[in-house]
Amino acid sequence: MTYGIISDIHGNLTALDAVLDRLSGVDRFICPGDIVGYGPDPSECLSRLRSLDCISVLGNHDAAVSGTMDPAWFNPDARAAVLWTRQVLSEIDARSLSLLPMKYEEDGFVVVHSSLWRPEEFHYVISPEDAKLCFGEMTHLQHLQAFPAREKECETTETLPEKVEARYYPTYCQESAAGGSICFIGHSHVSEVYVQHPPYPSSAKARQESFGQLSAMGGGVDQIRMPEGGRLDLNPGLRYIVNCGSVGQPRDGNPEASCAIFDSKKMTIEIIRVPYDVRTVQERMRRAGLPETLIDRLGYGV
Ligand SMILES: [Fe+2]
Repeated sequence: MTYGIISDIHGNLTALDAVLDRLSGVDRFICPGDIVGYGPDPSECLSRLRSLDCISVLGNHDAAVSGTMDPAWFNPDARAAVLWTRQVLSEIDARSLSLLPMKYEEDGFVVVHSSLWRPEEFHYVISPEDAKLCFGEMTHLQHLQAFPAREKECETTETLPEKVEARYYPTYCQESAAGGSICFIGHSHVSEVYVQHPPYPSSAKARQESFGQLSAMGGGVDQIRMPEGGRLDLNPGLRYIVNCGSVGQPRDGNPEASCAIFDSKKMTIEIIRVPYDVRTVQERMRRAGLPETLIDRLGYGV
């Protein structure tokens, strides 16, 4: 099975379409959150993911736009984009965002927006110490590739307006405990991979180590930055956190859209950078009255 990983799309339809073109032929799509916010085409991006039956989880911008999180702690530009996005989204689109689960698991991998450690607090994973906290929540899960795919229909579907496609929801509602040896995340908009080597510390011990209260007792973590993309062969004996970077607003110094292909049979992950027409997106943002800082940063990938 091949999966196209598309995270932090942030309402950038031009980047999303370029990425989908590059990923044509994959079996399934996964979005680790932040479908909307910042960009000028939130409704269209949601529509694309619906048509792909994309596995998606809740990002902090999705939560803020849908009203399940107070955007007060966002910086002023991000907050302005959240408020603008609220105005242009339909009630059904906003409701669909509010129903996204915090995490999703299937066949040995788990998807979460920020970190498995207190996912509802949206902590960043940008260092090996952050990664240890996330890995710590995977400690009790050793059955790589042993998860049966869940087929259960989500009851919430029945309560939604009829015109919402029912198939949009069952996947979203398969929330459960974290599982597998690979965790797909987004949030930082930086394409990189963390690798943890055994012996793995317990969850509590990982927490203590990360807060500097214990010396390392196994579970060392390597950080591999991949701003230009690249391919990794995954070792089934190790654990991975994979951040495929951002489709719609990269922040690793490379303005090209970022995405990944995970091949669960060959056990490979390939991070791919895809050029797109940044200027037309900037023009649409300007016409929409979105903050100039957000427009400028797209051109630099910061
Ligand atoms: Fe994001």
